[in-house]
Amino acid sequence: MRVLVPGGAGFIGSHTCLALLEKGYEITVIDSYINSHKKSLQRVVDILKRNNKVQNIDIDIEIADIRDEMVLDKLFLRYKDLGKPIQAVIHFAGRKSVKESVLNPLLYWDVNVNGSINLLRVMDKYNCRTIVFSSSATIYAPTDGIPLKEDTLIKPISPYGRTKVAIEQILNDTYNIPLEKWKIANLRYFNPIGAHYSGMIGEAPIGIPSNIFPYITQVAAGLLDELTIFGKDWPTFDGTCIRDYIHVMDLAEGHIATLEYLNNFEEKIINLNLGTGLGTSVLELIDTFEQVNNIKISRNFSSRRIGDSCKVIADNYLALSCLNWSPKRDLKDMCLDGWKWQSLNLKGYE
Ligand code: UD1
Repeated sequence: MRVLVPGGAGFIGSHTCLALLEKGYEITVIDSYINSHKKSLQRVVDILKRNNKVQNIDIDIEIADIRDEMVLDKLFLRYKDLGKPIQAVIHFAGRKSVKESVLNPLLYWDVNVNGSINLLRVMDKYNCRTIVFSSSATIYAPTDGIPLKEDTLIKPISPYGRTKVAIEQILNDTYNIPLEKWKIANLRYFNPIGAHYSGMIGEAPIGIPSNIFPYITQVAAGLLDELTIFGKDWPTFDGTCIRDYIHVMDLAEGHIATLEYLNNFEEKIINLNLGTGLGTSVLELIDTFEQVNNIKISRNFSSRRIGDSCKVIADNYLALSCLNWSPKRDLKDMCLDGWKWQSLNLKGYE
């Protein structure tokens, strides 16, 4: 089965491509490399060759933007003509910085929403009607720490979050097109961190990271002086915010489980939280990182970051019960593997 992976060279995308190829899927990646690196997919191939587990590594890479409908059309046509049509899409392509989305909302609506509309239009034209979409837990209204269920109120506070909601709504309307049978999953990610255990692929943010985990690994590597912890007066047991961190390989495997789940149906639409259901405070994350890697992380405290929620934890019951999937790696694995990646690749893929 050939799967199209827009945004497949990015952090979650590259780990998912690895998991797909390991399972014998044929994949075509389309990526603009605006926020990713071409070396990531070469590394994916290197890991597979090194492990010697996959007979035929079938990966095709197209450097393009999903807003370019002509490119998408040609791609679908090419595989149709080859008699091996693209049968499903795992859609990662999009901008993902909350801060940048506030400064440049039109860019976010254009890339994320218009790009997705283009993609869906071409999929529809070529009768490819299975899509797994990268959504985010950022779409939920804060719940004061009660685990977030899929039916929790949707109330994003950033333009980035609103583009994710808009795409989910577009997917919902697409599902309702009369006489068409779509299979759609909106995967609402919690906080993916870590890296493949090989340390050959991982998160490579451009510029100073805004997320906590790459910040920690860059402090550990001596690239940044110290971590600023946003707030020590949150109503939690140690005063710092709580998040649901999930190992990126568990997240990647969740995509394949979702694809396999969708294939059981004639038509289906489902929203699924992908998280561990476990909460970790900022200080617990730092402590675990320090312990397993035997490195000290210099830190200071500042005031709370605007827009932060106190506790964001998944209720992952639905994913656990529907998918043949559960997260297998714990916080120690996330810290070990994430540091392995950073220490072996001080400057990411450069
Ligand atoms: C952030 C985004 C969210 C996005 C997610 C994944 C915001 C408000 N939310 O989520 O929309 O889906 O990233 O890309 O930006 N922290 C520090 N110091 C730092 C960085 C973070 O103390 O230098 C703290 C934060 O206050 C938070 C926790 O670490 O409590 C996790 O932060 P982060 O990694 O940015 O993820 P989220 O805020 O959960």
